[in-house]
Amino acid sequence: MTKRIVSGVQPTGNLHLGNYLGAIRRWVDIQKDAECLFFLADLHAITVHQEPEKLRASVRETTAAYIACGIDPKKSIIFPQSAVAEHSELAWILSCHTPMGWLNRMTQFKEKAGKDKEKAQLGLYSYPVLMAADILLYKATHVPVGEDQKQHIELARDIAGAFNREVKTEFFPLPEPMIGEEAARIMSLRDGTKKMSKSDESDYSRINLTDDADAIALKFRKAKSDMVEGMSIDDARPEASNLLAIYAVLKGISKEEAVRECGGLNFSAFKNLITEVAVEKLSPITQKMRELLASPGDIDAVLKDGAARAGEIAAKTMNQVKDLTGFIKL
Ligand code: ADP
Ligand code: TRP
Repeated sequence: MTKRIVSGVQPTGNLHLGNYLGAIRRWVDIQKDAECLFFLADLHAITVHQEPEKLRASVRETTAAYIACGIDPKKSIIFPQSAVAEHSELAWILSCHTPMGWLNRMTQFKEKAGKDKEKAQLGLYSYPVLMAADILLYKATHVPVGEDQKQHIELARDIAGAFNREVKTEFFPLPEPMIGEEAARIMSLRDGTKKMSKSDESDYSRINLTDDADAIALKFRKAKSDMVEGMSIDDARPEASNLLAIYAVLKGISKEEAVRECGGLNFSAFKNLITEVAVEKLSPITQKMRELLASPGDIDAVLKDGAARAGEIAAKTMNQVKDLTGFIKL
C-alpha cells in the first residue's frame, strides 16, 4: 500500500514552537517520499468561540507558516478543512458507528470541557469523530502529530474498524500515528509540567512563530528556572529538562549531547545560548511568513488549488461510503 499522510493544525493564532517542533517541522521531511495532505482545521477551531475576521486571518497566517516552514504547496496539498464539505458529511456517517463510551474516554474533552460538562458544546464532544473523518476521508495510512493527539488517532483506528466491520470489507486502512520521539511534548516556559499551548493565557508561556528576536530573548529570559547548579535532564527539574530538550531538537542533537555540551552552564548563561539558537532557526521562518502574508491573494490561490485537489479524492471516498451505506444514487 502506498503511504498517504494527513495532518492538520487548528488555525487559532499563536502558532508556537511546540506546533513547529512537534508537528509541522516533521511534515517537511515526510513530504519528500509520500503523498501528503496538510489542512487548516477550521471546523475544529469553531469548537470554541472564534471571531470571524480573526479566524480568516489565522487560516492565512497558519498557511503562511506551513509554507515558510518548508511545506511545498506544489507537492503537498494544503487546504482549509471547511472548503471540502465531505469532512462534515463523513463525520456524520462515522458518528453513527461510534459508541458514546469511546468518546467519554477522550482526555482532551475532559480537560477542555472543564467542570460543568452539561454546558460543553456537542461539537467539542464529537470533535474526535470529525478528526477521524479528516483522516479516513483520504484513506490516510499515517498521521504525524504530537503526543497529545495520539488518543484521537487511536479512536480513528477504532472507528475505521467499526465501519469496516459494518460494511464487511477492509474499506478504510487503519491509520498509524507518527509521534516524533524527540519533540513529542514541548512544555510551557512558565511551567515545565504543562504543555506549551496556543490557548495558554500567558504569552510568556510560548515562543510564537511570529515572535521577533527581542521577544524570543525576553521570553527565554523570563522562563521559569530553578536554583540547582548546572543544566540537567531530571524529572525533578521539568523546566531545565524542557529547555534542554528544546535546545537539542533545534540543534539536531540528542538530549545527552545537549547535556554534555551545556551541563556546566548556569540557567542564565544557558538561556542566552538557547535564545541564539532559537533566533537563528526561527527568524528565517518569521521573515518568510511576513513576505507571504504581504500577498494574501497568493495564499488564497494556494488554498483554492489545494481544496480542489483534496476535493477530488474526498468525492471519490464519499461516493463509495454512500454506496456501501445504502444511500440512493440519483
Ligand atoms: P495547541 O494544543 O497549542 O492548541 P494544536 O492542538 O492545534 O495546538 O496542535 C497542532 C499540532 O501541534 C498537533 O499535531 C499537536 O500534537 C502538536 N502540538 C501542539 N502542542 C504541542 C507541544 N507542546 N509539543 C509538541 N507538539 C505539540
Ligand atoms: N485535532 C488536531 C489538533 O488539535 C488537529 C487535527 C484535526 C488533526 N484533524 C486532524 C490532526 C487530523 C491530524 C489529523 O491538533
